[in-house]
Amino acid sequence: MYKYLLLLHILGATIWTGGHLVLAVTVLPRAVRSRSPEILLQFESGFEKLGIPALIIQVITGVWLAYLRIPSVTSWFALDNLASRLITGKLVLLLLTIMLAAHARIRIIPRLSNTNLNFLAYHIIAVTFISLLFVVLGVSFRTGGFF
Ligand code: HEM
Repeated sequence: MYKYLLLLHILGATIWTGGHLVLAVTVLPRAVRSRSPEILLQFESGFEKLGIPALIIQVITGVWLAYLRIPSVTSWFALDNLASRLITGKLVLLLLTIMLAAHARIRIIPRLSNTNLNFLAYHIIAVTFISLLFVVLGVSFRTGGFF
């Protein structure tokens, strides 16, 4: 079971982080340069179909993998060993991602124009940076970490 969970988790990571890198590094600069929210909305509507299921798979497989590493859920937040610090870190990143996405969806995207495009750009850069941190923390489980 473990290997299938890990396979799905890594597949989801390639989609979520890879998709955001494409968005932040290639699509976003083009949209900002030409002051065109449509370019972003077009990419988002396509990416959403794969990106949202990928994030849901990350959460399901991630929580399952965390349970396999530390079977007592309350001990996930003990912070007295590397695995619990990494699991807590991942859950904090997940919360930040959800908050940023909800804020963009509810507050920014309905009123998106070329004047508030920069505000959405900061959100995209933040979510992309967080998606990279997810991978850094994920790899740290087996390697012992980078810090
Ligand atoms: C978009 C979000 C996420 C990304 C991009 C991501 C990425 C990764 C990556 C690249 C690994 C390394 C796998 C390996 O060792 O080969 C990993 C491992 C792991 N992730 Fe995530 N992850 C995400 C969300 C989550 C969430 C929400 C949790 C829940 C707490 C989680 C829990 C874990 C656990 C426990 C491992 C260690 C697996 C093991 O080696 O046993 N991840 N993650």
